[in-house]
Amino acid sequence: PLVPLRPLLEASLQHGFAHGAFNVNAVAQAQAVIEVHEQFRSAAILQGADLANAFMGGRADFLNGTLEDKRRGAQRIAAAVRKFGADSPVPVVLHLDHGKDFESVKVAIDNGYTSVMIDGSHLPFAENVELTRAVVQYAHPLGVTVEGELGVLAGVEDDVFAEHSTYTNPMTVCEFFKKTGVDCLAISYGTKHGAVKGEHVKLRKEIAIAAMENLRHEGIFGVLVSHGSSTVPQYIVAELNQLGGKVSGAHGIPIAELRAVIPYGVGKINVDTDIRLAVTRNIREYFANHPAQRASQSIGPVWELMEQKPEQFDPRVYLPPVME
Ligand code: G3H
Ligand code: 13P
Ligand code: NA
Ligand code: ZN
Repeated sequence: PLVPLRPLLEASLQHGFAHGAFNVNAVAQAQAVIEVHEQFRSAAILQGADLANAFMGGRADFLNGTLEDKRRGAQRIAAAVRKFGADSPVPVVLHLDHGKDFESVKVAIDNGYTSVMIDGSHLPFAENVELTRAVVQYAHPLGVTVEGELGVLAGVEDDVFAEHSTYTNPMTVCEFFKKTGVDCLAISYGTKHGAVKGEHVKLRKEIAIAAMENLRHEGIFGVLVSHGSSTVPQYIVAELNQLGGKVSGAHGIPIAELRAVIPYGVGKINVDTDIRLAVTRNIREYFANHPAQRASQSIGPVWELMEQKPEQFDPRVYLPPVME
């Protein structure tokens, strides 16, 4: 079934675990994310970024996607995911990632998203509160969960590029939850969007700890969200480059750093870059003259499909490796 994010957030706080949230830009990717969660018997969080809606709305020029493109894209992906969700034994959430403004969030909600993020992190605190509260007032009566953001992550975030990060001030987190009514909040505490996060990143765990202590003290429900959390597996980067890619200086968040923050209220961990890397690696391998030396088989068990077959031109043969 298709469900809102809220019950998953409650479960993560109650039991002290985190859900992965995975970005998708096509129906085949949505199907793959649901299938892998069925294997693990876990609820699935699929997220379409605001620009994913613009892309699926049918414009190659998605960076300049109009509201009408986003409306069409949201409608298409939500209809497909609703059908997959209805057929699936696991709960499935369709979440809007980095909603840009009230109108973009509204078209996602009106067309079937069950959870939305409004990213007002570039705004001054009071304006961020005002925008986020307006979204909550629209979303909650419709049963839709809301995520906000406080603090700025360095790197490429949607179409916003921030050179430097501004860590979230944990003393303002509680006030933000109180004034807006959001269910969860993206914080800036050392992660970054994209493949270039720096080597040996250390997360500012104390930001999450202080924020959660304040929430508990005031008796307010709230879950923290970790954006920019891809781990950028080095074997995938190496294989991608061996296959003709040119991805340099790529580093992710060490998995131990992510594990260490989960007990402190981080209940949703966003992953996009790792999927992009793995998908591109597998497409490159399928079409390469010389398959890569595999450091690991952990991308998936469909290697027999990936041998070079110059006579083959059926997309159904090279889409499964993408889904793997
Ligand atoms: O955090 C945002 C996403 O990783 C960016 O995805 O390029 O579709 O906006 P996008
Ligand atoms: P990555 O770029 O680390 O995958 O982060 C994705 C993200 O935060 C989506 O909102
Ligand atoms: Na932001
Ligand atoms: Zn993000």
